[in-house]
Amino acid sequence: MYDVFSLPPVRFPEGFLWGSATAGHQIEGDNIHSQSWHNEQQPDFYKDDPERKIRAPSGKACDHYRLYREDVELIASLGHRGYRMSIEWSRIEPQEGRWDSEAVDHYLDLLERLVQRGIKVFVTLHHFTHPLWFDRMGAFGSTANFRYFERYLAFLVPKITPFVSGWNVFNEFNQWGGLTSGPGVAPLKFNMIRLHALGYHLIKQHSTAPVSSAHAFIHWFPRRFHDSLDRCMTGFADFTTNEFFFHALRTGELVYPNHDAEYDPDVKGALDFWAVNYYTRHMIDARFASLDGARFHHKELKMVPMPFYLEEMYPEGLIANLERLNDYPVYITENGCSADDDRFRIVYLALHLSALREAIDRGVDVRGYFYWSLMDNYEWTSFIPRFGLVGVDFQTFQRTPKPSALFYRQVIQENGFSGEQIKRHLDALPTLR
Ligand code: BGC
Repeated sequence: MYDVFSLPPVRFPEGFLWGSATAGHQIEGDNIHSQSWHNEQQPDFYKDDPERKIRAPSGKACDHYRLYREDVELIASLGHRGYRMSIEWSRIEPQEGRWDSEAVDHYLDLLERLVQRGIKVFVTLHHFTHPLWFDRMGAFGSTANFRYFERYLAFLVPKITPFVSGWNVFNEFNQWGGLTSGPGVAPLKFNMIRLHALGYHLIKQHSTAPVSSAHAFIHWFPRRFHDSLDRCMTGFADFTTNEFFFHALRTGELVYPNHDAEYDPDVKGALDFWAVNYYTRHMIDARFASLDGARFHHKELKMVPMPFYLEEMYPEGLIANLERLNDYPVYITENGCSADDDRFRIVYLALHLSALREAIDRGVDVRGYFYWSLMDNYEWTSFIPRFGLVGVDFQTFQRTPKPSALFYRQVIQENGFSGEQIKRHLDALPTLR
């Protein structure tokens, strides 16, 4: 394990925004009108885990929809100055064209409380979930459905604008369609980048806060470094999930393998900052149709939940990735690790914040960092992976800040950290097993 105690002291630029991130479906509970909730009720959901050892429905999640007032106080007590959260479209428009004013009031109250506590709120308008009725129509796969998303944004955005300091139209839309150039993939990618642009221009009519979409920035690398096909497919994975979006946003040119390129002037420059979600590196193995390379397995560190890929930390990837984004300001909208042993979280934080500082030294204009996640939550298919700074008892919904939350609070107070500071929160380095 890395010796974080001897890391050089790190300070961040003045005004750097420190916070944490969550997503509605993962914490609120009872998100019954969403497609995710519906899918979780189907027998098919358990086909890879018939004994239901890992997979579970979201149920009450963290019961945050009920406990949101307490959670605002929790966020404030941990010293967070920023908070990235998402709003559930399926609560606002549970049936097509029917707006739920109670849900609107709920989110307005939550936003207002956060702002009153001096917290800058970044809102994600679509974090993987949407209404079941919209899903049944084919969701974002069809351009005819763009109008529903547009109508939703036109309804919601003006109402919440006074409370929002930063916007994400989508979360991690760059991953959709996976790592292929098969039928339908390019059209979906083209739709998503156009919908992002549509959201961007709509928000700009109402808000002066910066707008982007959160990008899952995976650091791809070849399983066999000298194998030409592993290297070639690594380039392919990087292009289809990363460069496609960067290039489109920078130039307006939509370029995808095995597809005629298109030009869309609305896409060009449709961002005010790069929103980066970074976790680790992924290996590309061209010997598998899925391209999924084997990982290093550690029992205590569960970076990705299903089916329990147990990965390593790779802070260097953050530096390499950010160096590609030196033309707009950057916010890290997610970064974190899932570990039962909270000491890994302190190590992970120290290493990634050091890497972030290095990226800043290399000229990247990083303005803020949102740790994923504020609290343990529903990791899409399972409650087992624990990403939180705050532990949650999923029976009683009791919240308990972990030592990493106290370390992070001190990082925020001091706008940086030193090895000495880490020692105060970490008795000994954990060992990877
Ligand atoms: C997503 C989160 C998720 C996290 C950890 C990100 O891809 O935006 O919703 O919980 O990774 O897997």
